Amino acid sequence: MTNDVTLPNNRGNLRIVANGEALATAAAQLLQETANRAIAERGRALIALSGGSTPKRMGELLAAAPYRDEMPWGNIIFFWGDERWAPLESPESNAGTALRVFLSDVDVPAGNIHTVETGQDSPDEAAAAYERTIRTVTGQSDGYPAFDLVLLGMGDDGHTASLFPHTGALDRTDALVVANHVPKLNADRITFTYPMINAARKVAFLIGGSGKATVLERVLEGPREPAEYPSQGIHPASGSLLWLVDRDASARLNATGATN
Ligand code: 6PG
Repeated sequence: MTNDVTLPNNRGNLRIVANGEALATAAAQLLQETANRAIAERGRALIALSGGSTPKRMGELLAAAPYRDEMPWGNIIFFWGDERWAPLESPESNAGTALRVFLSDVDVPAGNIHTVETGQDSPDEAAAAYERTIRTVTGQSDGYPAFDLVLLGMGDDGHTASLFPHTGALDRTDALVVANHVPKLNADRITFTYPMINAARKVAFLIGGSGKATVLERVLEGPREPAEYPSQGIHPASGSLLWLVDRDASARLNATGATN
């Protein structure tokens, strides 16, 4: 049983856990529960993983007992909600990191792992190819396919996936996946669009550490300014939104509730 708090202004549910280890454990449990339910209902689970550093501990847990042995790996299909313009072998690669941390060590069929093909000629072509793959795998040739779970992180500037403040991808409602140039990083990214993320049955942010406390307060309790704080643009059309945060990240929030 968890002590989730319903946030005001339709901003989802908040679940506070004690620390980074509890955050990783809660994320692994969420992934397992969501996958089991999706497989029971639809025979498979469509999961989009997030990048950055926060999910790494979750991955380490998934690669060890009990998750290594209990997850329904054969019926889970993995995508990434965003990717850097880097080859898999790069430490920058979100998919490469996940493969190295856990996916190569568990019984996921290789055909169930769909990484962004960053070897394409351009980020735009890679985004278009990834969109085609999503449509082929989901069998949905139009509209926005509903993933069972989209995991997200949040940067200290309020970005999520590779939806960065005041960048072109924020306005894209004509695609599932787009390339997005991020001037502050002088980098190209590939990212799910808002409508793609918001079509999910469940979206969960994993946010930990005191470095996120100020921006989390602003995102959850400040005025809505998604161009400035893109995480505020995440509100599933019919799915659920969970903010899974550790106590340090939640330190400045009014809506606290019990720590799980
Ligand atoms: C990426 C991510 C990005 C990440 C946040 C938080 O490609 O970097 O998808 O959105 O989730 O920047 O990153 P940390 O978990 O490292 O703080």
